[in-house]
Amino acid sequence: MNRLLSHVMTLIRVIVSQGVVLGGIVLYARMGGTLPFGLPVLLLIQGLLAALLGRLLGLWLFWVPLQILLPFALAYGQVVPAWVYAAGFAASVLVFWNGTAEQVPFYMTNRRTFAAIAGLVTEAKAKSVVDLGSGMGGVVTYLASRDPAIRVDGVETAPLLIMLSKARLLLSRLANARILYRSLWETDLSQYDLVYCFLSPVPMARLYEKAKREMRPGTLLVSNSFEVPDVTPEKVITVDDARQTQLIVYTL
Ligand SMILES: C[S@@+](CC[C@H](N)C(=O)[O-])C[C@H]1O[C@@H](n2cnc3c(N)ncnc32)[C@H](O)[C@@H]1O
Repeated sequence: MNRLLSHVMTLIRVIVSQGVVLGGIVLYARMGGTLPFGLPVLLLIQGLLAALLGRLLGLWLFWVPLQILLPFALAYGQVVPAWVYAAGFAASVLVFWNGTAEQVPFYMTNRRTFAAIAGLVTEAKAKSVVDLGSGMGGVVTYLASRDPAIRVDGVETAPLLIMLSKARLLLSRLANARILYRSLWETDLSQYDLVYCFLSPVPMARLYEKAKREMRPGTLLVSNSFEVPDVTPEKVITVDDARQTQLIVYTL
């Protein structure tokens, strides 16, 4: 029921953001305002403003491309074959699978942060590592190829990301890495010396409770960017990258 409600709320936000922007444009034109653009530019403005408003209303990144495409889909529905929209929509859903229900969208850890995580793995002498929500498998591939003596797992539930990251591992021929089609909530954390995650603020309190129940004393939970509310981390590492990524380290 909660999931259904969250999907309904999402759709309402999409409709409201598109409607408000469209209403604004129509009102502006009716009041004699000039719109010195052709239809495609106008549609792009509509989509961009609606995407921005949607973000302000709490829509996840997943909706940005869809919000931009929506006005084009409506205006050119007759010209562009319907399967193009269907394919685009399906691909977005298969990548951003966890954007709505889990409120964890897909974005990737960057290379400088890979190196900082590797530093933590070395420092902690970790022999087993998991990336919870492994996305395209970048962290898994990097850590496993850097040190064949450690075992690295990634767990993921977005179908397209699973396929692509499994293919990536296959091509890398890494014997010490696995991508598992498994929810992070069904992953037994007791097997790992270091648990890495890059999720969102939403699951952090619940994840920490799970980590406390399952992880062995002295093992590490490392969260990229999102802290556990009301828990003081052991340390915070600031990566020297464009967004000054923070790796927040909790010792169990
Ligand atoms: C921000 S991305 C991080 C990707 C990857 N860890 C990286 O750093 O490049 C978060 C990932 O978590 C995945 N995810 C969200 N909820 C999940 C769940 N319950 N179980 C497994 N994966 C999940 C999403 O599909 C997404 O790929």
